[in-house]
Amino acid sequence: MKGNVVEFLDKIGLKQTVKNVAIAVGLHETKEHGHELMVAEINRLAAQGLDLTGRTLVEIGTTREDVPGLGSTSILANLCHLHGIQMITVDMDSDNTQCAKQEIQGLGKSFTPVTQKGEEFLQAFERPIDFIYLDAFDFEHPNHSAKRKKKYEALLGTTINNSACHKMHLDCAYEIVRLARPGTIVVFDDVWREAGVWRGKGETAIPHLVSHGFEVTSIGKNSATLVLKR
Ligand SMILES: C[S@@+](CC[C@H](N)C(=O)[O-])C[C@H]1O[C@@H](n2cnc3c(N)ncnc32)[C@H](O)[C@@H]1O
Repeated sequence: MKGNVVEFLDKIGLKQTVKNVAIAVGLHETKEHGHELMVAEINRLAAQGLDLTGRTLVEIGTTREDVPGLGSTSILANLCHLHGIQMITVDMDSDNTQCAKQEIQGLGKSFTPVTQKGEEFLQAFERPIDFIYLDAFDFEHPNHSAKRKKKYEALLGTTINNSACHKMHLDCAYEIVRLARPGTIVVFDDVWREAGVWRGKGETAIPHLVSHGFEVTSIGKNSATLVLKR
C-alpha cells in the first residue's frame, strides 16, 4: 500500500514535496540528512510543551541545489517560523542567498539569509545560539560538479579539500563553544564514524565540542546531534 502511494506521488511529481511536509511535521523519521535530526530535536522540545519563541537557529550552509532529500533551508525556515524561532542561514555564495530569499518569502523577520563565510559570521556574532546546523565546506569526493569546484575557486580561492573542510568546521566549533549555553543543540551533516573516529565535516570539530562539554546524543545516516550538557 505504502509503496503504491509513494509510486503515485513520484509519478505526479509530488514525492519530495510530501516528504518535506512530513519531515517538517515530524511524521518522517528516516534521518537521512542532518536537517532531519534538527527537525526531530525541535519537534521533541515543542512536544514537551517548551515555548521556543525568540530562540535562535543558525544554519551554516544554505541550500545550493534543488536535490531530492536536501532543501534544509526551506524545511528549517518553515519549522522555525511555526515556533517563533529566529533563523539565520549563512552561505559564502550570494546565489544561494538570493535563491533562499526568493523561495522563502513571507516569513518576515523570522528568516534572515546572509552571504558570508560561516566561520567569519560566527566570529562576529554576539548573541547566544540555541540551535546550529553545520553543513558547509564540502568534503572531498569524486562527484563534485565542475560548477561547484569553480565556485570554491572563485569565492574562497581554494579547491574542495578535506583539510580546508575540517578547518572550516573546527573554526565554527571554536565560536560555538563561545556562543552556546546549556542545552544548545548542534547538528552536523556529512559526518560518520570509522573505527571509533569521526570523519567528514566534523572530523576535528566534533572532538573539540566533546572536549568542551557537548555530548553526542544521536547519530543519523551521515549526521549527528550534540547537546551542551546542562
Ligand atoms: C552541502 S551544501 C549545503 C546544503 C544545504 N544545507 C541543504 O541541505 O540544502 C554546502 C554549502 O556550503 C557552502 N559553503 C562552503 N564553504 C563555506 C563557508 N566557508 N562558509 C559558508 N558557506 C560555505 C557552499 O556554498 C554550499 O552552499
